[in-house]
Amino acid sequence: MSTNGSTNGASPNGKSGPAYEITDHTFDVVVVGAGGSGLRATLGCAEAGLRTACISKVFPTRSHTVAAQGGISASLGNMGDDDWRWHMYDTVKGSDWLGDQDAIEYLCRNAPKAVYELEHFGVPFSRTEEGKIYQRPFGGMTTNYGEGIAQRTCAAADRTGHAILHTLYGQAVRHNAEFFIEYFVLDLIMVDGRCAGVMVLNMDDGTIHRFQANMVILATGGYGRTYFSCTSAHTCTGDGNAMVLRAGLPLQDMEFVQFHPTGIYGSGCLITEGSRGEGGYLTNSEGERFMERYAPSAKDLASRDVVSRSMSMEIREGRGVGDEGDHIFLHLDHLDPKILAERLPGISESARIFAGVDVTKEPIPVLPTVHYNMGGIPTNYHGEVVAPKDGDPDAVVPGLMAIGEAACVSVHGANRLGSNSLIDLVVFGRASGLRCAEILTPGERQQDLPADAGQDSLARLDRFRYADGNTMTAELRLKMQKNMQTNCAVFRTGETLNEGVTQMADIYSGLPDIKVTDRSMIWNSDLIETLEFDNLISQAAVTMTSAANREESRGGHAREDFPDRDDEEWMKHTLAWVDDKGQVSLDFRPVHSYTMSNDVQYIAPKARVY
Ligand code: FUM
Repeated sequence: MSTNGSTNGASPNGKSGPAYEITDHTFDVVVVGAGGSGLRATLGCAEAGLRTACISKVFPTRSHTVAAQGGISASLGNMGDDDWRWHMYDTVKGSDWLGDQDAIEYLCRNAPKAVYELEHFGVPFSRTEEGKIYQRPFGGMTTNYGEGIAQRTCAAADRTGHAILHTLYGQAVRHNAEFFIEYFVLDLIMVDGRCAGVMVLNMDDGTIHRFQANMVILATGGYGRTYFSCTSAHTCTGDGNAMVLRAGLPLQDMEFVQFHPTGIYGSGCLITEGSRGEGGYLTNSEGERFMERYAPSAKDLASRDVVSRSMSMEIREGRGVGDEGDHIFLHLDHLDPKILAERLPGISESARIFAGVDVTKEPIPVLPTVHYNMGGIPTNYHGEVVAPKDGDPDAVVPGLMAIGEAACVSVHGANRLGSNSLIDLVVFGRASGLRCAEILTPGERQQDLPADAGQDSLARLDRFRYADGNTMTAELRLKMQKNMQTNCAVFRTGETLNEGVTQMADIYSGLPDIKVTDRSMIWNSDLIETLEFDNLISQAAVTMTSAANREESRGGHAREDFPDRDDEEWMKHTLAWVDDKGQVSLDFRPVHSYTMSNDVQYIAPKARVY
């Protein structure tokens, strides 16, 4: 029995209504978020016999992983030679040397095993003629340490995330994990530096819940919605990242934001890199395949930061397409319609719906669009959250893990390679489950929480629930999004970033004047959007300040005033904290430039052994 019954708690501070009644729950593990990493962790913990709750603000199969298209990387070698070391080389290089190499080794070695597990769980991968998992080329994925192009990205047509998410949800339910769906997590409960649980609002009936656990795993995804145009769902508000900031812990490398080269012009909807993997190419207003100039060997399959910058340069130099000359064409119209129907059905439909384009006949108008956050909650490769303490930059924060896009483990460093995200989700989701099984005992007694545990979260809830200022949340959010879009873009300068910092401080100072009109507790979307905005703005503030501070260009962070990478000064992770006034403070953490090669327990089977 996980629910301990109700207690009358909480007398909220500040502007408030009557005290909330709190329902208490106790679990061994609480996973927050039900995307690919959250479900993989939930499954792992439940399978290990740990009482596991998974809390999600959306129905699990609506989590943003569902939108992942092109595939999941693993050196299976089904479509040509491959080796996890080549994958590791590509990932270290793709990260522009900012990735932690022990974690990258863990990722690449364990990737094949993690993908075969998915296959056995039931993921309906596309197949080769011989019945093996189909693999397509993706940007930056090479053979033999950069010599050839690797076919490493395992795909279920162009709906790979969808296939993985549905399969993992079924598996987690099968192992009796308990789901709390459409519950919104308000905050972490921190007791003497240890995470002891979370405070939660059930959006459906307005009840308040306090979850106590020996381990909280944050799998809350990225914060793409700090920007005006992004491929992320509206739910991608980085709630876990913001909870970590409110707990006084730092986020890492937030200046590194990835722009995907091919968001549909106007809507931002993703057109998978797999479309270039299948032979698609980009052209400018002169009909030129300009990537041949910028990246003569990888061309359209250069890494995303390179392609996005090249597209921006073309537009800036007057070779953009369309009436305004402000976008680029992606051609698939030369490909066999049968291949398009079989391997790229999803994006063919998206292009028709969102751009009015028949991909068999016309090019798709595209533009670099915010897609992924390399930064997040710093962790080690077990998924344990780390923060500097007593001179140790890798000190573990007890009771707290983070995985997936919420985390900065850091396997992507300054730039993520396409299809390394889905594999990050399942490898580190799996790793966190293994770690929990190793360090936790099912049903272990937990210390009583302090009587006032969670009261701060309720005070915050009430501050927004009863907010009666003059500024609508949407107004402030739009200002933040426009500021990020303009001043923290593909290309940045000290001038734009400092302007961004100033504007962000101004927007932050508008928070006390916010207006929420709906005071109810049942499906109060006005309140939820305001809580999400509060989460977003703290992340926007640390992103802008971290970017203004890093005076070099590396991966997704392209400073026009500092065009070169500066390893001497900047081969280090940024750590950022924010106070409740939006004041950001920064520090640094060393990059792990060492590997774990001699540790045999992590060696994944090279060949398929099942
Ligand atoms: O282009 C894509 O299909 C996206 C993949 C990814 O971000 O890994």
